[in-house]
Amino acid sequence: MQQKVDFLIIGSGIAGLSYALKVADHGSVFIVTKNNEDESNTKYAQGGIAAVWDTTDSVEKHIKDTLVAGGGLCDEESVRIVVTEGPERVKELIDLGTNFDKKKNGDYDLAKEGGHSAHRILHHKDITGYEIERALLAKVRKHKNITILDHHYAIDIITQHHLGQVVTSQSKDVECYGAYILDTRTQKIETILSRITLMATGGAGHVYATTTNPIVATGDGIAMVYRAKGRVKDMEFVQFHPTSLYNPGEHPSFLITEAIRGFGAVLKTTDGKEFMHKYDERLSLAPRDIVARAIDNELKTRGEDFVYLDCRHIDRKGFIEHFPNIYEKCMNLGIDPFLKMIPVVPAMHYLCGGIQVDRHGKSSIENLYAVGECACTGLHGANRLASNSLLEAVVFAHRSAEAGLKNLAAIHFQEGIPNWDAEGTENAEEMILITQSQREVQQIMSNYVGIVRSELRLQRAFDRLEIIYKENEALYEKTTVTQKLCELRNLICIGYLVIKHARLRKASVGLHYMVHYHKVTFVAPNGRCSSVG
Ligand code: FAD
Ligand code: SIN
Repeated sequence: MQQKVDFLIIGSGIAGLSYALKVADHGSVFIVTKNNEDESNTKYAQGGIAAVWDTTDSVEKHIKDTLVAGGGLCDEESVRIVVTEGPERVKELIDLGTNFDKKKNGDYDLAKEGGHSAHRILHHKDITGYEIERALLAKVRKHKNITILDHHYAIDIITQHHLGQVVTSQSKDVECYGAYILDTRTQKIETILSRITLMATGGAGHVYATTTNPIVATGDGIAMVYRAKGRVKDMEFVQFHPTSLYNPGEHPSFLITEAIRGFGAVLKTTDGKEFMHKYDERLSLAPRDIVARAIDNELKTRGEDFVYLDCRHIDRKGFIEHFPNIYEKCMNLGIDPFLKMIPVVPAMHYLCGGIQVDRHGKSSIENLYAVGECACTGLHGANRLASNSLLEAVVFAHRSAEAGLKNLAAIHFQEGIPNWDAEGTENAEEMILITQSQREVQQIMSNYVGIVRSELRLQRAFDRLEIIYKENEALYEKTTVTQKLCELRNLICIGYLVIKHARLRKASVGLHYMVHYHKVTFVAPNGRCSSVG
């Protein structure tokens, strides 16, 4: 079956939904999303969205904080764009119904997180993402031009390759004509032809064994673009959140927001001693890479599985008001945060790299844009500043929509696209071949390509992954495609890209920390150092 649509959006998180609302008055829109329509990293965002909001803050301060966290590898122009245009986009979120918490005097209650020099995080209790997703979906559902296709899985984007032409990574004129989409309820594969396609597939947390990301985060969009010979960038910069709840057996890991440290919580080792002073003058509120590495070092030195987050001294009423979701979660596990410390451990949280895009979200493939966590705009550099990603998504959704609308009239549907070719394939014999390989990929990445890396570990990871890659490609060739099989293929691709980019970066910088390399110290203009050692 073939369908035609002006805008094909893959993903229904903040990036995909914001973009949809921007373009929907100008053409037909399909949003395909592989799970329930609200399932996304966005839904689980806790801390909030960073934006310069009042006179105690300034654009220059937010820019400087972002650059410092980014370890000297941010694209300064992208940083300026996001920080400058961000407040306007946040106002739009409010106008379309997002409720951010206010103080008694009516001003927004701005929180502070690691690496921020000002209170600038707008939030909705500790479930900000849930609230944003709710508000966006409510508007999207009402728009007559938008169709949401939930439980629809994008397998691959369609390019000249599918017309039988040779496309290589050197090809300069690769064009996107739409995508092959698997309806996971009927198992039928549809051909959706589009004039403009937006990749908004989010993160890749599940390439690691422990992650805060929901199960949909398997790096599909980045892998699709890489397979289609599009450019991918900065994949070595994998952000581990320092404080996911240590609760063995729970997968994905529950996040304990950084905003709690902004509220006064303090990191301690299991003997109740503070340790962050050994690593950074900003203590528990240092940027994430530093805090995660400090915890990792304490765990390895002490031979322990977790550290503690001490909230016992925090005002009870204020805590429960701000963090009701976390409070409830802890209480359900028998941890009263006012009596006991919360056990925490770092977990894969955010991918700074992704599909390389320009200042208008355009990828290296014609008519293909990418926004949100799957894209690499250069904002984050070597390390993302907390709560900058929701902001980046809304700013670049707006810019991509503007750019796409300017070009739309000149883009025509491609003729002669064949339907998906399933000839010679048959149903998978055993699911264990897929689930076990996925576990192996996650173990390889966690053990060898985690917070601290070495040449030897990367080499070992590469060699092990190559075996799984070959096995899986052979399986893919002869097996009827399923979501699980494609996700495994994509996770292998993401693992490969992280290792490949990590091996190319011959320095320790930001989130990429190599034991034998010199640390690179970045000093922002008139600013403080980003200590990356
Ligand atoms: P997502 O919200 O992840 O949406 C991706 C969508 O693509 C999903 O709908 C998914 O189902 C769909 N999809 C993926 N692959 C396919 C496919 N092959 N076919 C069809 N559909 C597909 N950032 C902040 O700025 N502030 C915070 O406080 C914050 N807290 C966070 C807390 C947690 C627990 C997590 C996990 C992340 C947090 N982040 C935070 C990061 C932020 O939430 C994400 O970076 C952001 O929401 C990504 O939005 P997105 O639209 O790009 O992707
Ligand atoms: C958090 O709330 O700690 C997460 C914020 C983020 O990932 O930006």
